[in-house]
Amino acid sequence: MSRRTSSPSHTVSNAEPRVHPRAPEIQPFGTVTHAMHLELEEPVRLEMTEQLNQLLADAMTLRDLYKKSHWQVAGPTFYQLHLLFDKHFNEQVEIVDLIAERVQLLGGLAIAMAHDVAETTRIERPPRGREEVPVLFSRLLDAHQIIIRHSRTLAERATQLGDQGTNDLMVSDVLRTNELQSWFLSEHLVDTPLVRAVPAASQAAD
Ligand SMILES: [Fe+2]
Repeated sequence: MSRRTSSPSHTVSNAEPRVHPRAPEIQPFGTVTHAMHLELEEPVRLEMTEQLNQLLADAMTLRDLYKKSHWQVAGPTFYQLHLLFDKHFNEQVEIVDLIAERVQLLGGLAIAMAHDVAETTRIERPPRGREEVPVLFSRLLDAHQIIIRHSRTLAERATQLGDQGTNDLMVSDVLRTNELQSWFLSEHLVDTPLVRAVPAASQAAD
């Protein structure tokens, strides 16, 4: 049996919880770890994690915009939209997790806290108050557009750099889900009558 060589402070048992510890960071934000077995060079992983973090901040903002809309929507279509917005929220939750874990997998650090997300996102900040349904749709569609555009360019760049995993994430998960959600939203903005069809004569008068 080997002798204990640790200091006395490590050998004395103490049942007191060690609360409120603070210590320096073990990895600064914006860096990637050196030793990875991914066959992706550090500059590639740096560029991909930076781009993914931008997309992540936007996806987190869109996710929260969906919850705001889920809670605050009002009007005759309340129930339908209340459910739709929460469905899209839950799908965005999954996307956020996939992007964040891709950043970590590449050796980077995923942006996580609301303060940092607010400083990073390109999505316009909505008011705290309640807005009309068409405005909710407009905000959500604008946010989707930002994410769709970025996921396409990021998919192409990832392929150029040999990062097929990020390309797949962009196309299979981020792009397709956001395209589908955008379609579901935009169909609500077609101005069709709810009960009575508009006669041909009055359509021509318009
Ligand atoms: Fe709810």
